[in-house]
Amino acid sequence: MMIRWNKKLKGLRCYIYLLGWLGLLLVALSYWRAEHTSLRASHAPSRRGDDESRGKWTSDDNAYGPDKPRLKKLRQLCNPAERIHAASEGRLANTAYDLMGMIVAIRHGDRGPLMSVRNLSHINCSHRSYMSGAYKNFVSAVMNASRSSDFASFAGSFSKYPVLPSLYHCSAAHLTPVGVVQHLKLGKVLKEIYINNLNLFSHPWEIDDVVIHSTKFRRTYQSALAFLHGFLPKFDVSQLRVVEGRSVSFCNNNCRCDRLALLDEKYDQERKMFRNSHPGVMDLLERLSAIVKEGPGAPDITHPGAMRDALLVYACHGHALPCVGGVCVQAEDVSSIISYEEWERRQKKSKAKHKASKLRAYGLLKDIAQTMDTMMRDGKPKFVLYSGHDKTLNYLLDSLSLPAYQLPNYASRIIFEVYKNSSFKSTSEMYRNSFYFRIIYNGKDITKFLPFCSVKIISHYTSANNVLNAVNLCPITSFDNFLRASNYFAVFNATNFKSACTLEKTSGALRQIANTGQ
Ligand SMILES: *[C@@H]1O[C@H](CO)[C@@H](O)[C@H](O)[C@H]1NC(C)=O
Ligand SMILES: *[C@@H]1O[C@H](CO)[C@@H](O)[C@H](O)[C@H]1NC(C)=O
Ligand SMILES: *[C@@H]1O[C@H](CO)[C@@H](O)[C@H](O)[C@H]1NC(C)=O
Ligand SMILES: *[C@@H]1O[C@H](CO)[C@@H](O)[C@H](O)[C@H]1NC(C)=O
Ligand SMILES: *[C@@H]1O[C@H](CO)[C@@H](O)[C@H](O)[C@H]1NC(C)=O
Repeated sequence: MMIRWNKKLKGLRCYIYLLGWLGLLLVALSYWRAEHTSLRASHAPSRRGDDESRGKWTSDDNAYGPDKPRLKKLRQLCNPAERIHAASEGRLANTAYDLMGMIVAIRHGDRGPLMSVRNLSHINCSHRSYMSGAYKNFVSAVMNASRSSDFASFAGSFSKYPVLPSLYHCSAAHLTPVGVVQHLKLGKVLKEIYINNLNLFSHPWEIDDVVIHSTKFRRTYQSALAFLHGFLPKFDVSQLRVVEGRSVSFCNNNCRCDRLALLDEKYDQERKMFRNSHPGVMDLLERLSAIVKEGPGAPDITHPGAMRDALLVYACHGHALPCVGGVCVQAEDVSSIISYEEWERRQKKSKAKHKASKLRAYGLLKDIAQTMDTMMRDGKPKFVLYSGHDKTLNYLLDSLSLPAYQLPNYASRIIFEVYKNSSFKSTSEMYRNSFYFRIIYNGKDITKFLPFCSVKIISHYTSANNVLNAVNLCPITSFDNFLRASNYFAVFNATNFKSACTLEKTSGALRQIANTGQ
């Protein structure tokens, strides 16, 4: 019996060895192939007609053949205007539900990288539709508006900012004409739905129907102008005001928070651990950094996110990826970096990140809830815009425990639609029970993922790709409950923002580490 077992085990061991060898052989083969192609590519950077190997990018649709599925990710991130379409926004036309108002948070459009990169001044950040009718209309309208006597009160603290980005010059962190075109398109797409189909402004709109918030940056202000020009029936600056938001999270009266440094530090550590478990990614980053950074003296690009950001400026503007001494960044390198980041995002949700987002987004969420209140009570404002950043959208999604499907690409949008059930006869003190909302992120209805509401399915529709979708509504009262301080801050064992942000005495030592850890 024992011997037979042993024999069996031996056979099994043999089998496992064999499998192991086969695996090794395969790995070696694929490694050799990868080496081979990348060598070939980097040694022949200037061969004519070999644009692919030089990592030549164009924003033209045809440049991404069907054999390059991984490059789709990049196109998603660049989010060219021709890809911006409405999807599940405003699917309640001709139902018993009346649109009471909408709140939109956007990320600014295409911009230069946050840090200067190699060859930045050679990149043409213009857009081919720059001279088209829509763009020209916008330019003349916004230039005309900026000369009007109402402009100073419209633009407020932004009145010294240029209303348009540079024509084709790409500059670090600034909006580009590509970004303007994205927001003109987004505005137009949403106007069709909300204003033309759902009749958002049933009367000629007045000054308190529209509220515009922007962070203090040029790119968010200029993005807001383009969006509003595309969206509003009339771009009339005498009827509008741009209000500067406090910080990128629009924290309003809930900004200062000591606990954040600690949570950020913790999340940083977690990400460092992820990266350390991927030495290949770290090697790739190091190799790319030498090529991409502006010069030998410039700081290294050590975060995958910063590298993606730097590489997008080439990829989104049809410019060749940079080279040094005949060694070029390859298209595959760009997708490797992006794949890694997406992988990191898919890992087990970070508690530290979720908590930090809850603290950061609280002010904005309260603001949104208050806006919903006045929409329900007074029918005003009808439309509220927050022009912000990828961080702004990430904080919102995270704090609502919504799964992050994708990095918020340029000109991303999160829309809160507020509806009244017009067939519901309510008493005056129960009037909140007849109100509902939906949340739509880049065209995708994510209402049903909100952990705090039991959604009601109102109807179904078939989308362009023949998928049956449900229209979900979440009761406003669920949002009220979620935001009630005793619920919202329960994860901090606290009942208000201030105490959630206060660090206990015992963590004083930790705080010091967090402060010096920069
Ligand atoms: C930049 O590109 C646009 C089209 O995308 C073109 O019309 C323009 O001439 C280019 N500018 C320069 C300086 O190359
Ligand atoms: C230019 O602005 C003025 C108000 O300052 C307005 O009356 C006029 O209609 C505008 N013209 C165009 C072409 O937008
Ligand atoms: C910079 O861009 C120019 C024009 O596109 C190109 O000729 C040059 O080779 C680029 N330099 C590097 C280092 O990529
Ligand atoms: C809207 O009101 C009608 C009439 O009271 C009711 O039958 C329906 O269920 C309500 N819709 C929702 C989503 O609660
Ligand atoms: C929450 O507070 C209570 C009472 O102050 C304490 O007993 C408990 O340990 C705290 N829980 C956490 C997770 O901090």
